[in-house]
Amino acid sequence: MDVAQDWTPAGWQQDRFTAKHLPTYEDAEALTAATETLSGFPPLVFAGEARRLRGDLADVARGKAFLLQGGDCAESFAEFSPNNIRDTFRVILQMAAVLTFASKLPVVKVGRMAGQFAKPRSADTETKDGVTLPSYFGDNVNGIEFSHESRYNDPERMVRAYSQSAATLNLLRAFASGGYANLREVHRWTLDFMGRSPWADKYQAIADRIGEALDFMEACGVDIEDDPHLKGTSFYTSHEALLLPYEQAMTRQDSITGDWYDTSAHFLWIGDRTRFEGSAHVEFLRGVKNPIGIKCGPSLDPDVLLGLLDTLNPVREPGRITLISRFGHDKVEAGLPPLVRAIQREGQPVVWSCDPMHGNVVKSESGFKTRPFERILAEVRGFFAVHRAEGSHAGGIHLEMTGQDVTECTGGAAAITDEGLNDRYRTHCDPRLNAAQSLELAFLLAEMLNMELGESNRAAA
Ligand code: PEP
Ligand code: CO
Repeated sequence: MDVAQDWTPAGWQQDRFTAKHLPTYEDAEALTAATETLSGFPPLVFAGEARRLRGDLADVARGKAFLLQGGDCAESFAEFSPNNIRDTFRVILQMAAVLTFASKLPVVKVGRMAGQFAKPRSADTETKDGVTLPSYFGDNVNGIEFSHESRYNDPERMVRAYSQSAATLNLLRAFASGGYANLREVHRWTLDFMGRSPWADKYQAIADRIGEALDFMEACGVDIEDDPHLKGTSFYTSHEALLLPYEQAMTRQDSITGDWYDTSAHFLWIGDRTRFEGSAHVEFLRGVKNPIGIKCGPSLDPDVLLGLLDTLNPVREPGRITLISRFGHDKVEAGLPPLVRAIQREGQPVVWSCDPMHGNVVKSESGFKTRPFERILAEVRGFFAVHRAEGSHAGGIHLEMTGQDVTECTGGAAAITDEGLNDRYRTHCDPRLNAAQSLELAFLLAEMLNMELGESNRAAA
């Protein structure tokens, strides 16, 4: 056991740490009641599963696998339904099939699901028609509706978020291991409305070839129904570890190793606004052994990043840290190389993942917050180009996406226009790629990954 020095689950509350983006709860008794209830509930994930993910991410760090992480910007109580969960899960499966087939690399699948509720906001308050109310901080804190009652910070919401996470995870586990994710089903993962996407045919062609490969293996005597890699899949959960009272209440000591794990998800990340030196969020995550993500935006200084890694990964364990860069399409090529070089100089074994969403938000003429598909793609291309030039592995992608046929990001082959955004704009926070746009991005990613692998194979030859 190598428990972090001088660390306790409640230690982040000390005055020497700065806690930003946390709600103020007026009713202290209600807060205590809610966190005590949560502390008595069963863990959502197990330490052994988080360790397995750390191992999978260590493979990504070594260039032997690719990380696919995606889901809602913010899960909500209103959009909670089995169909939504299934549809996002199956688009992730489709994307993984495309990426694995093209690159021959295993894909580590992580959902922004089963716990992604809390949101950092740029302003504490929101004003509409002369009325000022607290901002919406995510369904586990307050409600999105613009009224006094709804915008009240209610600790009971954490208990509801736990229940929704438990039910979501239960369904995800069933999908992952109960037959739905069997590779034999690869044709059936296609969504009805995908028929309209030009990428749907390309997907069918890959599905046909996977089917033929399975037929061939079966003819050779491989029992597909008995192989855990073919009859099911591993699927992990993640969210931003923002709402610390909730995360603290979900933190438990593993009976086997004595290490602390935040059992609310397998993987937790620190947002771009809470990764500063002296942050309470960094202090909290220092002591849990889950794999951790750090969002890296344009304001991150390379030395500050190295300091963060010394705090969060002092023993330099591969798979512990995933750096999720989110610079914006026009900043990635200048901003990312200094960070990559600092990491290489120090020999820190990190996973590099690209979030092409959070640096590419624009306000459309029709008034919606949107993300043009071509900017998203441009940031991904920039990310791959930087890693190619620096000789490091472009290890993963981090997306805000949904399996639904929403109209939130413009562009893509489906050519969603500014005016079209109004048709099905449903997100509770930032705009998400819809199912067709997500699959399209997977095909383009597969090409970039192939180019990287082709070059490294040529270099090795
Ligand atoms: C997010 O991932 O939802 C988010 C708020 O990202 P960032 O911290 O990178 O802005
Ligand atoms: Co977001």
